Amino acid sequence: MRSEPIRVALLGCGTVGGEVARLLTEQAGELAARAGAPVELAGIAVRRPDKHPELPPELLTADAAKLVTAEDVDVVVELIGGIEPTRTWLLDALRAGKSVVTANKALLSEHSAELSEAADASGADLYFEAAVAGAIPLLRPLRESLAGDRITRVMGIVNGTTNYILSAMDSTGAGYAEALDEASRLGYAEADPTADVDGYDAASKAAILASLAFHTRVTAADVHREGIAAVTASDIAAAKMLNRTVKLLAICERVTSEDGGESVSARVHPVMIPRAHQLAGVSGAFNAVYVEADAAGELMFYGQGAGGAPTASAVLGDLVAVARNRVLGGLGPRESAHAGLPVRPMGQTPTRYHVSLDVADRPGVLAQVAQVFAANGVSIAAVRQRDRLSTASLVIVTHLAPDAALESTVDEIGKMDVVREVVSVMRVEGEDQ
Ligand code: NDP
Ligand code: HSE
Repeated sequence: MRSEPIRVALLGCGTVGGEVARLLTEQAGELAARAGAPVELAGIAVRRPDKHPELPPELLTADAAKLVTAEDVDVVVELIGGIEPTRTWLLDALRAGKSVVTANKALLSEHSAELSEAADASGADLYFEAAVAGAIPLLRPLRESLAGDRITRVMGIVNGTTNYILSAMDSTGAGYAEALDEASRLGYAEADPTADVDGYDAASKAAILASLAFHTRVTAADVHREGIAAVTASDIAAAKMLNRTVKLLAICERVTSEDGGESVSARVHPVMIPRAHQLAGVSGAFNAVYVEADAAGELMFYGQGAGGAPTASAVLGDLVAVARNRVLGGLGPRESAHAGLPVRPMGQTPTRYHVSLDVADRPGVLAQVAQVFAANGVSIAAVRQRDRLSTASLVIVTHLAPDAALESTVDEIGKMDVVREVVSVMRVEGEDQ
């Protein structure tokens, strides 16, 4: 083993950083044996050093800018979050030849090209396993194990906070606000939890997944995003009646058009899936992601997607990889964006809708509603009707159609005189088309 240590600057010592600092200390001997050199903390940057009596005072600083380029630092582990000033600090670190390990999906989903180019220019590593799906080894399989295959689809639950809320609403009937408070208390939510509930966090992760899976630069702005704030108790109840459940999914697909041209579709929105579907059983802050590839077929990755210790596991795995590269010489995988596929707008992406309506209970109403679907080129897969006094409850599930056609169908239906209320509208996944 090399006696000269690998020196680590830790930026941020909150939910995740605190666990990284603890494990680095408690497992120092084993980490050194695996890395081939001792892995030592050179400094810890936090916003308020006086609030951290648990940390060695000689390591603490509020000056992250100085720490990232300090001469005796080999690796910067960034666990602060946000875009600025983190972006500037990481670019400075990479330009100074320091390798970077980060869990910052918000930053990566907007600036990974710039960060990767800085890493390439100085011969440094950029690792970010913890940025998607917490403890689950998912990015390394996409970047390395499946590098010889052709991935067609990546779909799954990638946000622990929203999954925790939806699971609670479905199983215990807990209120939205109450479940969100608990997810924040448990350390799953982002500093600003609207990033979770409005789907920004999942959209950032979808951008990272699509970029790696399809060898194409996909940014958060390319991802269609809907959060769970609009998911109502009526949606949950409508799903239950059909033996389905509601999940927030990230769906990244390689789409081949009729002329053979390929594009990438990336979206995040709530969906109804059958209770028998494997993703339906993923509850609390757990994440699960399906990957479909031509040769490998279907793969599923499952585990804890948020929380201090699970995320620290992924960070430390990256840190050992970077340390090994430093000890042995060589670099980890570089950005792979050679395919450069265009991103398909959501309106052209084929989806299926579930629409639940209260309509006037009189002859011809079903035909009028069906006519609107037909006029928009949307084919109906199933209809269920239940009568109540003067109203009938209609549940319609469509076949696949361009999302824009489904959206305009729902708009038109909502304006019909015979429609008393549009009770629930949600996309459907995980069933035969
Ligand atoms: P926390 O809010 O718990 O911790 C943030 C840390 O950053 C704190 O120690 C804070 O200092 C420090 N910090 C904030 N601003 C500055 C600054 N200007 N200079 C120096 N230090 C600063 O965040 P998390 O640990 O939850 O998340 C960290 C990162 O990990 C984020 O990118 C997040 O998206 C990502 N992540 C989080 C997961 C989770 O489950 N929590 C899972 C996967 C990824 P102080 O302590 O003094 O306030
Ligand atoms: N806030 C994120 C979540 C943390 O709830 O999944 C993990 O990335």
